[in-house]
Amino acid sequence: MNNLYPIKTKVSAAQRHQLLNQRPLLIWFTGLSGSGKSTLAVQLEAELHALGFKTYLLDGDNIRTGLNKDLTFTDEGRIENIRRIGEVSKLMLDAGIIVLSAFISPFEADRQQVKNIVGADNYLEVYVNTPIEICEQRDVKGLYKKARAGEVKNFTGIDSPYEEPRHPDVTILTHTMSVEESVRELMKVVGPVVKLK
Ligand code: PPS
Repeated sequence: MNNLYPIKTKVSAAQRHQLLNQRPLLIWFTGLSGSGKSTLAVQLEAELHALGFKTYLLDGDNIRTGLNKDLTFTDEGRIENIRRIGEVSKLMLDAGIIVLSAFISPFEADRQQVKNIVGADNYLEVYVNTPIEICEQRDVKGLYKKARAGEVKNFTGIDSPYEEPRHPDVTILTHTMSVEESVRELMKVVGPVVKLK
């Protein structure tokens, strides 16, 4: 490694986890713009927090106005966006935190890369599977309208691809399930994993 000598800490990850009394996990939400990723992540985080778990939510719009404000929505920009989020998530997991990440993350290879960065055991993929027609009908931010008018370029699902997850751990159909039902489904999977045995 190029003249770099990472230090050894006296406090181990396991000791930090023990102190926080939880097993860290990265809950990775992927889906189209307007699919409901942020809504679900916000609700799930609130639920976990209420149960005493230490959490942190990373969300596309927030991270892209700070850490990743230098990145665009070209394929390259998205790839680097997701790589950095993977690395940030890894640090947070090491600190012992349950991380909820809500990014479109349109490319399967990038999601796999995140899984590799944090370790497969620490990664839970949630596919927020909302058809583009519904996302476009909702158009909460008015971005689909702008994309159709050509005012926003490289918009996911319009002129930039979204690759469906091949093996998501959980799939949420937001157009047939309420937010409460969806969060209940997620809690069934997440709850047992994050409790320290
Ligand atoms: S990505 O693909 O994972 O890098 O995208 P992400 O960091 O999650 O950012 C998505 C949010 O950015 C806004 N936005 C766009 N989305 C898609 N395509 C284009 N061209 C674009 N321009 C701006 C939009 O608010 C997305 O938020 P969500 O919550 O997904 O709707």
